[in-house]
Amino acid sequence: MVFSRFRRARPLFSAQDRKNLRWFWDNYLKSKSPWLLVVLVAILIQGVAYQQFLALTESGLRVIFESGNAWELARVCVIVFFLFAVRGLMSYLSPRLSVWLASNAVLEMRDDMINHLMLLDLSYFERTKSGEIILRMVNQAQDLSLFVGQATVNAVRDAVTVIIISGYLIYLSPQLFLAAVIIIPVIILIMLMVSERIKTIQENAESAMGNYMTGIEEMAGGMRTVKISSQEPSESTRLRTAAREIRNLSIRLQAAQAMVLPSIDLSSAFAYVLVIGGGGYMALSPAYDLDGAGVITFLLGLVLLFDPARMVAQFFTKLQAHLILLEGVHSLFRETPTITDAPDVIDEFDTSGDIVLRDVAFGYSKNAPLFDGLSMTFKGGKTTAIVGSTGSGKTTILSLIARLYNVGSGQITIGDTPIEKIRIRTLRQSFSVVAQDIVIFNNSIWENIRYVCPDASDEAIWEAAERAAIADLIRARGDAPVGPKGAQLSGGQKQRIAIARAFLRSAPILMLDEATSALDQRTEQRIRDTLATLGEGKTTLIVTHRLSSVTDADWIYVMESGQIVEEGTHADLIASDGLYASMYGAQKQGYG
Ligand SMILES: Nc1ncnc2c1ncn2[C@@H]1O[C@H](COP(=O)(O)OP(=O)(O)OP(=O)(O)O)[C@@H](O)[C@H]1O
Ligand SMILES: [Mg+2]
Repeated sequence: MVFSRFRRARPLFSAQDRKNLRWFWDNYLKSKSPWLLVVLVAILIQGVAYQQFLALTESGLRVIFESGNAWELARVCVIVFFLFAVRGLMSYLSPRLSVWLASNAVLEMRDDMINHLMLLDLSYFERTKSGEIILRMVNQAQDLSLFVGQATVNAVRDAVTVIIISGYLIYLSPQLFLAAVIIIPVIILIMLMVSERIKTIQENAESAMGNYMTGIEEMAGGMRTVKISSQEPSESTRLRTAAREIRNLSIRLQAAQAMVLPSIDLSSAFAYVLVIGGGGYMALSPAYDLDGAGVITFLLGLVLLFDPARMVAQFFTKLQAHLILLEGVHSLFRETPTITDAPDVIDEFDTSGDIVLRDVAFGYSKNAPLFDGLSMTFKGGKTTAIVGSTGSGKTTILSLIARLYNVGSGQITIGDTPIEKIRIRTLRQSFSVVAQDIVIFNNSIWENIRYVCPDASDEAIWEAAERAAIADLIRARGDAPVGPKGAQLSGGQKQRIAIARAFLRSAPILMLDEATSALDQRTEQRIRDTLATLGEGKTTLIVTHRLSSVTDADWIYVMESGQIVEEGTHADLIASDGLYASMYGAQKQGYG
């Protein structure tokens, strides 16, 4: 069984692991190598102190056994104390320094993670579980910091101790040392056996933890739906199942790691027996120049060696688990953004020009195309409406113009400049958007409005708030935060915050996606009038289901499952008596 396991075992370091380690070293540790060297020196001093202790013990024992000089003995005692004091000082300094280094390395890594995350495409966030992102940014980064700053430094210290003491023991008696190291191949075999298990379990544990976190996030964010549909039991079952999965995996991980120390202890017992027997024989036999003091020192050395050696072995099992964490963190950096600035981007473009979609093909996934050869024109300075059935692709058109996604083929131009040629920041700054899904942060209403334009003056914010009919609410609520995702606000209040943002931003292109759908008729009328003044002279794109609000539009597109089925002015469309006319008629009847 041992050997079949052995053959299937993953190598201790896969090619990917080596790449990950190299990446971490190159980016976050290399620059700190002078300090790392200081840590290493402190560690070496600790090792040398041990070796000196052994040497002194040996001469101390000889004093006792042979000459019996008390002063000599006292001198040995003082030096031994001094050696341990030095070792103590060094073992205080080296972790302090190393933890500082590792924390900084991980801080830099976190900074990079944050920056990288900001660059990633929207689509990454639409397909990645939030728990996985949190796991990488919070837990995995933190665990790596501890691992590098403490476990690794301790392991290096232990390894150095092992090497130095081994050297001294070889010097004392090569034959005895050889007898003692017979156990090393056994230890290596054990390590190889458990390393694969540990990696696999750790991988599963990470994904279980990610699921758990995502589950918590979804539950907390969706509590209203959970309660209204009485799904508390199923939510708690879901979370408890995930929690059990984590427990099982951590027990299994512990079990796999726990095998290591006892097996090492057992094989070391074998080494002791060999040394006591063999050493005793050598001390008795005149053929070897090893005396009693030598044998005792050798045994003492072996005891000193034993603990750090098993720690080093244990470190390797921990390393296996942490290689998985490193892979988790590094994998985030391997996600490459596709929506990026080309090297020759421009910052100036005609924001008042026509927005033109030419033969655009696009689909959220490859096997489900949404648009195929879609062509539209939004005249500069005019108001164009897009209406049509739900899911027909209206919001997607706005997203494509804002380059939240790249088109599959075809082209989108604004004032004849293809949007890929425009710096993404510049492009997006030319839009004021009231989106269909409004995002409100857990902050005051005031700060929520200011979010789109942090430099805005107080007067500008008040004006925007007045025009969006939200100023009274600001006065009433003051600085109180509005709850996660604006949970303490009504739908219409959230919408008015979004509208106030559009007023505040006042960019040359206005995009309104169901901007007033959640408002009562009187407020809607009032805000529509103010929006009309905001839109004056600006290119305005309106998406709506309420056809009565687009009768004044300069042009109207009617969409049906990714295609334009009709277009024209309100009068044209009514006259042609097609889909629009029938939708309009039905809605009018509903109102009347
Ligand atoms: N982020 C996304 N990932 C995958 N598919 C999406 C995504 N967003 C929208 N879709 C799909 O693309 C299609 C068009 O969606 P879109 O949001 O553009 O419709 P819409 O016309 O705005 O609808 P509504 O009137 O309901 O707002 C829908 O079938 C939808 O399921
Ligand atoms: Mg939509």
